[in-house]
Amino acid sequence: EQIKKGSYEHFMQKEIHEQPESLTTTMRGRLIRGGSCNAKGVLLGGLKDHLKTIRRSRRVIFIGCGTSYNAALAARPFLEELSGVPVSMELASDLLDRQGPIYREDTAVFVSQSGETADTLLALEYALKNGALCVGITNTVGSAIARNTHCGVHINAGCEIGVASTKAYTSQIVVMAMLAIAVGDDAISSQSRREAVIDGLFDLPNKVREVLKLDDEMKDLAKLLMDEQSLLVFGRGYNYATALEGALKVKEVALMHSEGILAGEMKHGPLALVDETLPIVVIATHDNCFSKQQSVIQQLHARKGRLIVMCSKGEASLVCPSGSCRVIEVPQVEDCLQPVINIIPLQLLAYHLTVLRGYDVDQPRNLAKSVTTQ
Ligand code: G6P
Repeated sequence: EQIKKGSYEHFMQKEIHEQPESLTTTMRGRLIRGGSCNAKGVLLGGLKDHLKTIRRSRRVIFIGCGTSYNAALAARPFLEELSGVPVSMELASDLLDRQGPIYREDTAVFVSQSGETADTLLALEYALKNGALCVGITNTVGSAIARNTHCGVHINAGCEIGVASTKAYTSQIVVMAMLAIAVGDDAISSQSRREAVIDGLFDLPNKVREVLKLDDEMKDLAKLLMDEQSLLVFGRGYNYATALEGALKVKEVALMHSEGILAGEMKHGPLALVDETLPIVVIATHDNCFSKQQSVIQQLHARKGRLIVMCSKGEASLVCPSGSCRVIEVPQVEDCLQPVINIIPLQLLAYHLTVLRGYDVDQPRNLAKSVTTQ
């Protein structure tokens, strides 16, 4: 086992740090750089015969559990933007509980690292019965979800051993960004946007390498937070998912209560929790929601909130003019790819919190890597 971990102490740590490579593998052979005789684009072999059907569907439904659900949530805005098709989100268990309506005109996309999660698999059976086109996005070739869907994409992130999913999350987002580009490929109006994101994808592993340099800073932050009872994470837009996923990591491995909150909902309850003791991470990297996040920070600040703000490099003074918050500066990338960068400091924080609190990193109590029972 130690050989497989290489120089790392834990699989989760190794898997966090290998993300530049896992993302490179995820994209290998799938991005077309463009040149004199071909346009920039994306090639997803497993989907090529189905893109037209997806484009024409009445809605796309993303279905998953845990981290896989969060990855789909991160990809949702970009798929909606490029496809023009409404994208709805379903936690597999909730879809089954409600027996929610699914139609033949729907495309149901099943996101699962293992490809074996019972709830997701049952939701797949349900969607097949209802006649939807079923697409699988998994990390496991030959898994039940890969076998039983009509078509799909393997994320090729490599074997993930830590129960808390890290590298699979970022690879899932990248695959769904590529899916959005492939689906939107017929629209001339969004060509320059697609090309900018493709350039961003080519450069993403370098940017991930850069953000991983925050490791020591996150360890220091973990030292500061290790005895806390609770941590809130505020995000919105592309990074609502980052808030949910960051909080999930802290909860599942560091065994600390943590909640991801949609910043737009702050006034409708969460604001009551704010005081000078409760630590709050606010994700405020530069995108179309930036000014709204600035105002959220002001409001939290006015209530003496204990703020840790994640912002784009060089923007510390824009997010925290008073200089009184702790700031995490991350490299800026295309807005729809920013969740890939922003989750990494939070993965590192959850990892270091777990080690400092003395809990099992790779096998958190009561949890399993793959939940194959309902
Ligand atoms: C379990 C794991 C999580 C994972 C979830 C969904 O709860 O502990 O890390 O996100 O299942 O798993 P899947 O394999 O379907 O992505």
